[in-house]
Amino acid sequence: MAPRRLLLLVLSSILIYVSGDQQVLSAEGTKNGYLRRFGVESSVQWVFDTAKEHDLDIWHASKSFVDVYSPPEEPFLPADLAKLPHNTTAVSTTTPKHIGTNSEWNLTSLINTTFHESYHPLYEINSFINQLSNAYPNITRLVSLGHTAEGREMTALSISTGPYKPQNEGGKKKKRKKQRKTPGAKDGMKMGFVIIGAQHAREWIATATSTYLAHALVANKSEPHSISYLLDHFDFHIIPVPNPDGYSYTWETDRYWYKNRQILGPYTDCVGLDMNRNWGFKWKPNVKGGEKVTRPREPTNPCSHWYPGTRPFEAPEVNNMENWITTLPNLVGFINLRSYGQMLSSPYSYTCNRVPKDAEDQIEAALGASQKLKSIHGTDFQTGSLCSMLYAAPGNILDWMYSREAIKYSYVAHLRDTGTYGFALPAKWIRPTGEETSGLIDYLARFIAKQAKSA
Ligand SMILES: *[C@@H]1O[C@H](CO)[C@@H](O)[C@H](O)[C@H]1NC(C)=O
Ligand SMILES: *[C@@H]1O[C@H](CO)[C@@H](O)[C@H](O)[C@H]1NC(C)=O
Ligand SMILES: *[C@@H]1O[C@H](CO)[C@@H](O)[C@H](O)[C@H]1NC(C)=O
Ligand SMILES: *[C@@H]1O[C@H](CO)[C@@H](O)[C@H](O)[C@H]1NC(C)=O
Ligand SMILES: *[C@@H]1O[C@H](CO)[C@@H](O)[C@H](O)[C@H]1NC(C)=O
Repeated sequence: MAPRRLLLLVLSSILIYVSGDQQVLSAEGTKNGYLRRFGVESSVQWVFDTAKEHDLDIWHASKSFVDVYSPPEEPFLPADLAKLPHNTTAVSTTTPKHIGTNSEWNLTSLINTTFHESYHPLYEINSFINQLSNAYPNITRLVSLGHTAEGREMTALSISTGPYKPQNEGGKKKKRKKQRKTPGAKDGMKMGFVIIGAQHAREWIATATSTYLAHALVANKSEPHSISYLLDHFDFHIIPVPNPDGYSYTWETDRYWYKNRQILGPYTDCVGLDMNRNWGFKWKPNVKGGEKVTRPREPTNPCSHWYPGTRPFEAPEVNNMENWITTLPNLVGFINLRSYGQMLSSPYSYTCNRVPKDAEDQIEAALGASQKLKSIHGTDFQTGSLCSMLYAAPGNILDWMYSREAIKYSYVAHLRDTGTYGFALPAKWIRPTGEETSGLIDYLARFIAKQAKSA
C-alpha cells in the first residue's frame, strides 16, 4: 500500500506542476481526481466504447476528443486505455467554502449584486429565488412543482408582465396537437419560453446561469445586460435546480455526482438514475445507450452512470417537471442549460439517422444565436443536432420537448468551457457566461417573434 501511496503523491505533484495555471489547487488535504483527454490520435470512438465497457465516468465526448474522469478513489485508468496517448489534468474535488450572508446580495440591481460572483448551495439558490420574487413581485410567480426522491421541494419561477391568470394548476393537462404552427402575436397571448438548469447535478454553471438569466429578465431596462424587454412578447418559465437532491449531494459529499438520489429498490446498493435519460420519448432500458449497441450487453445495471430507470418518468423530479410543463400555455422556446463543451444543439438526441422536419429553421436560428453569443465575449459555440455533437442518447428532455410538447425551437446549450476546467469552471466566469447566454436567448426570442409575426 505504501509504495502506491508514494507513487500517487509523486504523480500528483507532477500533475499539479504540469497543469500550471490551469488548475487552482489548494495545497494540503485536497483530494484530486484526474481528467484524461484522448484526442483523435487515440481513435475517439474506440476510447468512448472502451470507457463505456469499463463504466468509466465520461465527462465529454465529441468527434475530436473524449474526456474521461477518474475519482480520487480510483485514480488509474484500465490498462487498455492507459497505453493510448492522452493528457492528464488534476481536478480538485473540494467544494468551495461559502462564506457570506444573503443580506448582502441586494437583488435590486443586476450589475451591483454580489450573488453572481460565486456558486451557491441549494438553500442559497432557494433564498435567491424567494428574494428575487419579493424584489419584483409584480412580474414573478413562484411555483411549487412537488417533491424530490429525498423529500425536498422543487421550485420554478415564472416571469411575466402579462396579467396574472390562473392556469388550471394541478388540474387536467392540456393535450397539445403535435407540431402546431408557431403561435404567438396574433392570438394576443404572450409566447412561453422554458429554461432549465442542471439535471446533471455537477453541471453547476448551468444552474448558476439559470439564476443569472432570471435576474437579467427582471432587471430594470435601464441596466446594462437587462433583457427584460423580452417580456413584452414572452413569458419565461425557469427551473434553476431540476435535481435538488443531486445538487445538494455535490456540495456535501461528491462534487462530481451526476444522477438524482433515488433509492432504486431493495436489491441494489446503487443510488440514482440519469434524469436526462428518463423522459418519455424514445425511452430505452438499454443502459449502454447509443444506437450502435443493438442489445444490452448486461442486464440493466442501476450502478451504471447512464442508468435510465425501469420506466419513463420514474424519477419523481422528471415527473414533477413534466406535470408542470404540460400545463404551460403557448410554449414556443426551450433551452436546457448544461455543461460543458460550448455547443448549441437541436433535436434529435435519440438518433443521428433522422432529421426533424423543422431542422432548417432550427439550425438557422441556432447559427444566428451562436454568432450573437460570440459577439458578447468572443466565445465560440458549435451548432448541430445533439446526437451528432455527442452520441445517440434516448429518453432526453430535448426530444421530449420537441416531439411531445411540440416546441419547435428546443435546444440544449452546453455552456463554458471546452475542458480546461470542465465541471470545475471557476466562479469568475459565471457573469460572462450569463451575459453571453442572455445574448443567445435574446437572439432566439427575436427570431421566434419575427417568425410568429410573419406567420
Ligand atoms: C496534449 O498536449 C499537447 C501539448 O500541449 C498537445 O499538443 C496535444 O494536442 C494534447 N493532446 C490532447 C489529446 O489534448
Ligand atoms: C440596494 O441597492 C439599491 C440601488 O443600488 C439601493 O437604492 C438600496 O438602498 C440597496 N438596498 C440595500 C438593502 O442595501
Ligand atoms: C451600481 O453601483 C454604482 C456604484 O455604487 C451606482 O452608481 C449605480 O447607480 C448602481 N446601479 C444600480 C442599478 O443600482
Ligand atoms: C405593481 O403593480 C401595482 C398595481 O398595478 C402598481 O401600483 C405598482 O406600481 C407596481 N409596482 C412596480 C414595482 O412595478
Ligand atoms: C428603472 O430605472 C429608471 C432609470 O434609472 C427609473 O427611473 C425607474 O424608476 C426604474 N424602474 C423601476 C421599476 O425601478
